[in-house]
Amino acid sequence: MVSEISLGSWMTYGGSVERERAEACVAKAFELGIDLIDTANVYSGGGAEEFLGEVLADRSRDSYVLATKLFFPMSESDRGLSREQVAKQIDASLRRLRTDHVDLYQCHRYDWDTPLEETMEALTEVVRQGKARYLGFSEWPEGKIREARAMGGVEHFVSSQPQYSMIWRGPERDVIPASRELGISQIVWSPLGQGILTGKYQPGEPPPGDSRAAHERMSYFMDRAADQALLERVQRLRPVAEELGLSMAQLALAWVLREENVASAIIGATRPEQVEDNAAASGVALDAATLERIDEILGDSVRWDGPASARG
Ligand SMILES: NC(=O)c1ccc[n+]([C@@H]2O[C@H](COP(=O)([O-])OP(=O)(O)OC[C@H]3O[C@@H](n4cnc5c(N)ncnc54)[C@H](OP(=O)(O)O)[C@@H]3O)[C@@H](O)[C@H]2O)c1
Repeated sequence: MVSEISLGSWMTYGGSVERERAEACVAKAFELGIDLIDTANVYSGGGAEEFLGEVLADRSRDSYVLATKLFFPMSESDRGLSREQVAKQIDASLRRLRTDHVDLYQCHRYDWDTPLEETMEALTEVVRQGKARYLGFSEWPEGKIREARAMGGVEHFVSSQPQYSMIWRGPERDVIPASRELGISQIVWSPLGQGILTGKYQPGEPPPGDSRAAHERMSYFMDRAADQALLERVQRLRPVAEELGLSMAQLALAWVLREENVASAIIGATRPEQVEDNAAASGVALDAATLERIDEILGDSVRWDGPASARG
């Protein structure tokens, strides 16, 4: 069981967002009942886990659900989901996070260079050693999700972490239907389209100076912030949100949470006010007419397939 809104740390903490503000975001999240914190070994080269290890040290370990990931390169030779890497990366993450276990250990992508059996056995070992309570994956192909589920004698995945938002609906095609069938829930990333769905990017104007798209290090995967047709359509969502008494961020988050298979929307935040705005989306229900209006407005700016644009 996790809060419907959770706090992520890609691009933000242990790196680009200044320490005091990052700490204020985490404190705000706790204050508002957010209890799932998502990170990865690779975020800020281990810096996000180190930051979280420091700021979570004074909190009771059972007051939050801690999720991390492995797969992406940590050095020239450290990458992937081999037996050696799983054993090595969990220990390194636990050291940085200053804890003896994570609640959710996720494979950040599928590793085509390691047999699936080897990965599942190694992950099972991590659970049996008490270093992780549950297992998850991010952006795995449906066939591999099914293969992993069918394997005997190993721990099974409980969660999937796909990119999912009003403007990125790929998981509806395969991952969500398969997950429903297999008893897996989604904790989704970039539910605000990295901020695009908050309406802060105005068509024909440069991105606001304090936004991700304008940031030197955080803007790598923000190509859609230059898509003028998309930005125009997003502005047309503003009256829809206003009529419901919601902020645009809340409308976007309520939209992903309308899908029953979504357990939580993992938000990023550079300021505590954003955490506050976003947390208020929990419990908001959108009716069928609103959902239809959103689809009409976004039209063919909705993407369904193609490679996930970010490698967070
Ligand atoms: N599994 C994966 O491969 C993967 C990939 C990417 C992310 N993730 C996870 O998902 C988490 C969320 O991803 P994300 O950061 O891209 O999510 P997002 O929530 O779509 O975007 C977050 C950014 O939008 C802006 N923002 C957030 N709330 C706002 C508000 N209420 N009003 C105005 N602006 C607001 C902030 O950026 P500015 O203030 O800088 O504009 C913030 O950093 C990550 O931290 C990570 O844990 C996983």
